[in-house]
Amino acid sequence: MAINARLRTVADFVCGGALVVDVGCDHAILPIELVRKNKVGRVIACDIGEGPLASANRNIKRAGLEEVIETRLSDGLNKILPDEVDHIVIAGMGGDLIARIIGNAEWTRDKKYRFILQPMTSADDLRIWLCQNGYKIEKEKPVYDAGRLYTVIVCAFSGDKIEMSPEYPYIGEVLPDTAEGRDYFLRQISRIEKRLLSLERSKSDHPEKQELTVILNAIKERLGELKCRP
Ligand SMILES: C[S@@+](CC[C@H](N)C(=O)[O-])C[C@H]1O[C@@H](n2cnc3c(N)ncnc32)[C@H](O)[C@@H]1O
Repeated sequence: MAINARLRTVADFVCGGALVVDVGCDHAILPIELVRKNKVGRVIACDIGEGPLASANRNIKRAGLEEVIETRLSDGLNKILPDEVDHIVIAGMGGDLIARIIGNAEWTRDKKYRFILQPMTSADDLRIWLCQNGYKIEKEKPVYDAGRLYTVIVCAFSGDKIEMSPEYPYIGEVLPDTAEGRDYFLRQISRIEKRLLSLERSKSDHPEKQELTVILNAIKERLGELKCRP
């Protein structure tokens, strides 16, 4: 199975010689890529499902990598020991599930771990959870895959509760300095405008209107649009 652009972006953030756990490995496409690119010292491919893990085992065997990639049946990080890894990858799940998996593993509240997270949905909620729980987002990279735009988040535990601007949950550390980054901003602008339109239609004086207008203007300002207006 070929790796897609989404997982390739995740792989790019793994440092050389890393000890990686890939939570929710499914077919083990990412662990196989990491070993083939000589990226990892060791990789544990885990999944909650017996079916996905069987598929992972088949692919690992076919690639001749049984000695390098260990598979493990695990709900989130439950079966991973703190000293086994220094990189924690959680990709292809909803942001709420990713937050729950990290929150359930108290031992990850340690600055030594690098997290590479790729939410399929609810990236906003994930950013809020990370900031409120002391995980600092260091960078993000938006990536198109099969016509859909995702973000890949790199973060680490900082020990401090992180202050967020009102627009932060929507854009995090995405920068509008690439086509994908610009598109990410435009997508969030469109989402907020749609929400504002539906609030306008309801005609109620909803407090969310003012809040969303502030956020919308802040995102537009970051994108440089307001400067172009007469
Ligand atoms: C859509 S696949 C994503 C596979 C791969 N990580 C990717 O990004 O393409 C989600 C995988 O996460 C697994 N999963 C869901 N909840 C999980 C949990 N709590 N712990 C471990 N794996 C989980 C599912 O069984 C499934 O194989």
